[in-house]
Amino acid sequence: MNKTVSLIVPTYNEHDNIAPLVERIHCALSPRDYEILFIDDDSTDGTADAASSLLEKYPVRVIVRKDKKGLASAVVDGLNHINGDVIAVMDADLQHPPEVLPGLLKAITEEDADVAIGSRYVPGGGCQGWSLTRKIISRGAIFIAHLLLPATRKVKDPMSGFFAFRRNVVKDARLNPSGFKILLEILMMGRFNRVAEVPFIFVTRERGESKLNARQQLDYLKHIYSLMRRTGELTRFIKFCLVGGSGVIVNYGLYWILTRFAGFTPIDDMAAGGITSGNLAMAISIETSIITNFLLNNYFTFADRKVRKAGAFFRALLNFNLICIIGGLIQIGVANLFAVVFGVNDLIAVLAGIAVATLWNYFLNNWLTWKH
Ligand code: GDD
Ligand code: MN
Repeated sequence: MNKTVSLIVPTYNEHDNIAPLVERIHCALSPRDYEILFIDDDSTDGTADAASSLLEKYPVRVIVRKDKKGLASAVVDGLNHINGDVIAVMDADLQHPPEVLPGLLKAITEEDADVAIGSRYVPGGGCQGWSLTRKIISRGAIFIAHLLLPATRKVKDPMSGFFAFRRNVVKDARLNPSGFKILLEILMMGRFNRVAEVPFIFVTRERGESKLNARQQLDYLKHIYSLMRRTGELTRFIKFCLVGGSGVIVNYGLYWILTRFAGFTPIDDMAAGGITSGNLAMAISIETSIITNFLLNNYFTFADRKVRKAGAFFRALLNFNLICIIGGLIQIGVANLFAVVFGVNDLIAVLAGIAVATLWNYFLNNWLTWKH
């Protein structure tokens, strides 16, 4: 199958990289049917002219956008101007070696992948000459994505800017990224079954400068938040909190019923054995609320990932139970830290404990109990 390949290359001030890039792409892809579309954000160094000067010799097109809107949005704009069955995205600065392109395309045309990612984090991949700080930032960014956007968990390098995909993946997708992470947007909003990761080494930039700065890192967090909103992950968190609230009612209500109507002694009635009986009532209430929370979360909060089969169901319930009990201990720990160590008012300290325990319960259960 020799499908048309459209390469989208976003550029901003990459004048010296354009000619070597196009030559190396040509060597890697010919005699395939391919086209290169540069989306330039009105570079000040003549990048667009450098690209235009090649269009007689190579299948190159150039689009210049006037008010700079950024890397990811350049790629989205590019999608409206190409007609390949397979689309690839790469940087212009040769940090993405064009020689990896055939491997990405092969994963799609021969190995049935819908998305093929040039990955730094599978065996054989890596980053050349990165400082420890940049490594930590990169890993941290991936961790945040895996934590907050569960659908990215099966991908080792969702931050890569080097990837290929079938046109159908983005056919009806509403893409609205900010910042640099166009792949993340496509993974969250596109439609696909199989993702392949092809190792590559992200090599050192030899000409020009990186445009990645603190602004982009802030944009990244905004982008994650926007994706959480658009894909329902934020609603999921709110549902989890509502379920938690219902658990308080079950917990308290059952204690009241048990001690007022079911023969259990209230804990303050020590003479009548309240310490044993009342505490037993409390333990039953706590455990019942953990179970009702589990059921509500399974069929409501995590309905899209619910566990059904008996074995898995009880394992998940046990997991949830353990995480929530540790959550309770965390609440006590945090409340004491604030009240006893920092001298904060106890009602505020307990609230802080509840907030931290809620986050703990949510993320641990999201990660372990309702795995994607
Ligand atoms: N059109 C357009 N508009 N292109 C841009 C813009 C912009 O505002 N900013 C950067 N680019 C282009 C650059 O010219 C280059 O071709 C590509 O986008 C990547 O920009 P770099 O500045 O070289 O980014 P980087 O090397 O720091 O980041 C790359 O690596 C990351 C992984 O660490 C990118 O590929 C990221 O997407 C990737 O996540
Ligand atoms: Mn770069």
